[in-house]
Amino acid sequence: MATDNDVQDPTALRTAMVRELRDQGAIQSGRVEAAFAIVPRHLFTPGEPLEVAYAPDNAPIVKTDDNGMNLSVVSAAHLQATMLEAAEIEPGMRVCEYGSGGYNAALMAELVGDSGRVTTVDIDPDIVERARTCLNEAGYHHVKVVAADAEEGVPDAAPFDRIIVTAGSWDIPPAWIDQLADDGRIVVPLRLKGTTRWIAFDRDSSGLVSRGYGLCFFVPFQGAGSHTERTVKIVDGVVLRLDDEDLEVEVDALRRALHLPRIERWSGAVFDMPDEQALFLLTNEPNMALLHASQEAIDQELLARPALRGVPVLIGGDSFAYRAARPNYDMGSGFESGVYAHGPSAEDLADRYVELLRQWADKHHRRGAASIQYVPKPADVPAMLAGVLPKRHGTVVVTWP
Ligand SMILES: C[S@@+](CC[C@H](N)C(=O)[O-])C[C@H]1O[C@@H](n2cnc3c(N)ncnc32)[C@H](O)[C@@H]1O
Repeated sequence: MATDNDVQDPTALRTAMVRELRDQGAIQSGRVEAAFAIVPRHLFTPGEPLEVAYAPDNAPIVKTDDNGMNLSVVSAAHLQATMLEAAEIEPGMRVCEYGSGGYNAALMAELVGDSGRVTTVDIDPDIVERARTCLNEAGYHHVKVVAADAEEGVPDAAPFDRIIVTAGSWDIPPAWIDQLADDGRIVVPLRLKGTTRWIAFDRDSSGLVSRGYGLCFFVPFQGAGSHTERTVKIVDGVVLRLDDEDLEVEVDALRRALHLPRIERWSGAVFDMPDEQALFLLTNEPNMALLHASQEAIDQELLARPALRGVPVLIGGDSFAYRAARPNYDMGSGFESGVYAHGPSAEDLADRYVELLRQWADKHHRRGAASIQYVPKPADVPAMLAGVLPKRHGTVVVTWP
């Protein structure tokens, strides 16, 4: 019996995907465009319908754990394009990918050409075998596929001109920096206070410095570099996520605050680019974390809708305040930012929060406004600033020039 895949033309679907990636701005250069146009993505998503393989925002699932959490996916093409553009891979380079699937490694192989070298590493033997099989099937026999924990890098194949990491990392292991060429670049999805940004890092005198970043979602790192963030339940369906901070939380006091009447304050400042605004909020107040509510908690009006997907929350002892937005056609985006707050100190917290919202809108209201540094140990960074995030092997410093 004929299936849909028998009647669809992968080349036509691929051409349409490339056009859409260009229109979205994910593909910007002719070289990345040529790589996407040539690598047959559907050979890396066996068993999936062709239109699933070639939808630019789809990330077909490859493996889940016993709880249904994704352990491996073929990353969405738009994210792969964005990160490859940020990497600026040139012909002849030695590049390494941590987190395999085969497709991204094939794109990298196209970018480095015959004189370059691609190594891809995965911790999971099933994924390594699958990547090897798919790469062979698509004709990329020369890509080196290694079964290992990325934490130690690949000393035999180093140094690398480019390292692209495709699993969500909480830190940057020393091996990645040691194995990077002097003028090398690492593109890594790094977790900063519970939210992940891909960051393109170049070397600088104190370690690494960002040249671009953007919001992204990746399956988490396993193995030696894995890191579980702290979550604190306030009531059923309402949790705080405290990723980088040592913040002490008075759970009983916050539970009482939740049941006190809500106040609201409006900033008179624009609400848009929530990911950029959230990074600013999270890295300019030491007592800022993330607040999440379930749909049931929202339906019971314990918290308002912004908390559904996680929202920056300012915690002050027995009180808390979180970001809100309302329609306002005087604003460029059509929305104004504001704050909902609960607890005995709700007024103070709301004022502090609104001040931050105004600062962001006045001075930093654009994409890529932050500068992100990674300072490896043993160098010390004074820990008094909100944008200083201590990690296991070094410190992330987020500043807003
Ligand atoms: C999003 S998938 C990679 C997608 C792939 N780059 C592609 O071409 O679509 C993330 C992969 O990271 C792998 N991974 C997780 N922790 C790892 C570690 N410590 N070392 C190496 N690989 C790891 C997972 O097994 C998973 O296959």
